[in-house]
Amino acid sequence: MANGQQDRILIVDDNKLILKLVQDKLGAAGFEVFTAESAEQASAILPSVKPDLIVLDVMMPGMDGYEFCRRLKSAPETSPIPVIMLTARGDISEKVRGFEAGADDYLVKPFDPTELALRIRALLTRVRSARGQASAPSPAGHIFTVFSLRGGSGKTSLAVNLAMALVQLWSAEVALVDLAFESDHDAMMLDLRPKYTWADLAEKEQTEIDEDVVLGCMTKHASGIYLLAAPPSPVSAGAITPKLVGTVLPILRSRFEFVVIDMPSCFSEPNLVTFDLADIIILLVTPELAGLKAARAALDIFDSLGYRKERLSIVLNWTFPKRGLPQRNIEDALRLPIDLVIPYDSAPFVDAINSGIPLLQANPSSRIAFELQKYAYQLSVEYMQYANVPASEVLARVQAAFGH
Ligand SMILES: Nc1ncnc2c1ncn2[C@@H]1O[C@H](COP(=O)(O)OP(=O)(O)OP(=O)(O)O)[C@@H](O)[C@H]1O
Ligand SMILES: [Mg+2]
Repeated sequence: MANGQQDRILIVDDNKLILKLVQDKLGAAGFEVFTAESAEQASAILPSVKPDLIVLDVMMPGMDGYEFCRRLKSAPETSPIPVIMLTARGDISEKVRGFEAGADDYLVKPFDPTELALRIRALLTRVRSARGQASAPSPAGHIFTVFSLRGGSGKTSLAVNLAMALVQLWSAEVALVDLAFESDHDAMMLDLRPKYTWADLAEKEQTEIDEDVVLGCMTKHASGIYLLAAPPSPVSAGAITPKLVGTVLPILRSRFEFVVIDMPSCFSEPNLVTFDLADIIILLVTPELAGLKAARAALDIFDSLGYRKERLSIVLNWTFPKRGLPQRNIEDALRLPIDLVIPYDSAPFVDAINSGIPLLQANPSSRIAFELQKYAYQLSVEYMQYANVPASEVLARVQAAFGH
């Protein structure tokens, strides 16, 4: 996806039902979809469609998918276009033939259209990073998403305080984006009453959405955080499409040094767009079996999306006081180190929610605040190396702790 534009996908299949199904699903997932019922028809429309990726059925009357793929891959103007083959059988010889013809990935029929959407995103990301280009052009800022498949694991608490820590460290303007539409807690934690929200952006024509419009829908907190709040009612959440999210987040990234996103506990289509755009995905885990299973499941999906481990950061949050799983066991099960442990400490968290003053603002020199500030520093320091940052007390304290 470039600059909020949708990726263009050409699907070639002689089965009209499959074309329709895939077209609907990929359209809903934020892609611009074109269809052709044969390789010949696809060849004819290729120059005008200029697809970013082609999904190609193998068995078709006329030229079959292998032959068409071979031709695509031998012409200089079409060879860079990634191809996903749809093979009828899962046997190894079909797969080998597909790869020999130059296919970049393959999927066995019958397939789940959601999986196809995931594969397409993963392949586009892989191809673009191999070409040394990100999936969006020259981003100025950086996006951190805070995620867990388990509700109540501390996503909002971490997102709000991470945004606050980034403001305190770098005196930067930070955007906080509430995508957790079902809970809408970020405004509450900052004691803000937003006049405009995501719902107002959803009402605009896509072409109207620019930096001024997005900023106009945000609410400024005295600390310097700009909040893009969840819709006032979860009912309007359906209007927040992947396309809208894919338009708004790059705008925020070009305007703010940091964008922190509070995610809902699911893999919805808008979330997939968000993960694709994120520099760092922060995955929260709670020290009990269900929390661990949720984290493992999320990691498996990130793996299938082709995300590198360096883009992930694991945070262990003690949302309950005792008898939790040991940190070692959690790290072994996740096969990743834990970058931050948030100890159980109900009073400051509950006080923060009740008072609408985030922990880091109410008590910036407490032990938990210091741990969060150090973590925020580790996440962001490489991006700020050459920035001209005014010395802040918090930055000096954190740098001293790291001996910088
Ligand atoms: N380390 C902690 N110690 C004590 N209480 C905590 C801790 N972390 C979070 N909490 C509490 O757990 C509850 C859930 O936290 P929070 O709302 O941040 O989670 P969430 O993942 O955003 O939840 P939801 O899925 O509802 O959006 C809150 O009451 C919060 O105060
Ligand atoms: Mg929340």
